[in-house]
Amino acid sequence: MSPEKLLAARTGRESVYLPSNRLGLYLALRHWCTPGQRLLMSPISADEILFLVLAAGLIPVIAPISVLDGNIEMARALLGTIDAVLTTNLYGLPDDVLGMAGLVVIEDAAHAAETSVDGRPVGTFGVAGVFSLSKHAGAGSGGVLVVDGAADRRALERERDLLLQPGALRKDLFGVATSVGRRLALKLDMARPAMRVAQIMGLQEPRDGYRIALRPDELRAAVAQAPGLPALDAWVQADLHDYRSSRGAVARWYQGRRLARLQGERARRLAGVARLAELPTVARGVLDHVDQPLFRVPLLVSDRDVAIAALERRGVPTGYLYDPPYDDYAEPFVEPSPDREAARWWARHVLPVDPLYAERALPVVESLRPAPPPGDRLLDHAA
Ligand SMILES: Cc1ncc(COP(=O)(O)O)c(C=O)c1O
Repeated sequence: MSPEKLLAARTGRESVYLPSNRLGLYLALRHWCTPGQRLLMSPISADEILFLVLAAGLIPVIAPISVLDGNIEMARALLGTIDAVLTTNLYGLPDDVLGMAGLVVIEDAAHAAETSVDGRPVGTFGVAGVFSLSKHAGAGSGGVLVVDGAADRRALERERDLLLQPGALRKDLFGVATSVGRRLALKLDMARPAMRVAQIMGLQEPRDGYRIALRPDELRAAVAQAPGLPALDAWVQADLHDYRSSRGAVARWYQGRRLARLQGERARRLAGVARLAELPTVARGVLDHVDQPLFRVPLLVSDRDVAIAALERRGVPTGYLYDPPYDDYAEPFVEPSPDREAARWWARHVLPVDPLYAERALPVVESLRPAPPPGDRLLDHAA
């Protein structure tokens, strides 16, 4: 079955196929927001998310986050002046969507393809939910946008088609081959060669630390042309240069097949979550969601870089690190959070571990020292 049909079945919504999640988030923001509006968002998410918000002509209003789960802390967010909210569902831990009732919410479900809240899938709470097929499904690329009405679905398809660039069978085959190769290398305990190959092939952007170079002067000039994606392509395309190129039948078949296989991995993922949740370093928010097949299990550790290197030696690559928070990374382009400390602490200490590789990771992660406590003030808020 096609990825869009599978996700329509999971969510009970209308669905739109996309070459990437990020294109879907852009389309949703353009469809439900108007340029100049203020969008509440977490400072802890992938680089491209900030840039596509800027491309949509919106003002990123950075929210305080919770030290429990790294998601927006609604109780401390200043809601009076915001027009819409973008969730993150970091590593699969759900955002407080029930606390967002009454707001225009766009859900980034990239990390939360298998997460439910009160029995209802993430991606069904907001006006739109956007999935990424390169995360849980490990399909290399692809995305699906879900919405409630056929009229919105058709309008979004039209808007998508205006932004799509032509694809090519050769590129689709290359994308499928690299995705298969990377998964195989990981399975065979060859994570390091696989990562090196990805870098050589340009599948991984060069980074200053964990973020791509901001190039503020060029970025300012590009943002002046918003709304519009092309001017910001160089930033939005991080790690996925063909994020808005059409995909053909082969790529879509592969993505659907990978997505359909998730069910078979579910028990293994849950077992990994349960095992990692026993560690003293686990983020406390995980303990409320041990019944969810998370994308990653966030640990909060003292010496993260040493841990990353040790995990790599055992064949467990670490990715999805969003450090520093957006308001430190790109301060002139956002409205900073009124309280940045929790995000700084989280960004500096979080170590996301793939639950499918829990057994391989355990000899390293079992002995890690917990992060220094974030301070009573932050814990009091979170309690
Ligand atoms: C939280 C989050 N949202 C969205 C994306 C973008 O997904 P895609 O690569 O499918 O555009 C990513 C990619 O890493 C992500 O980590």
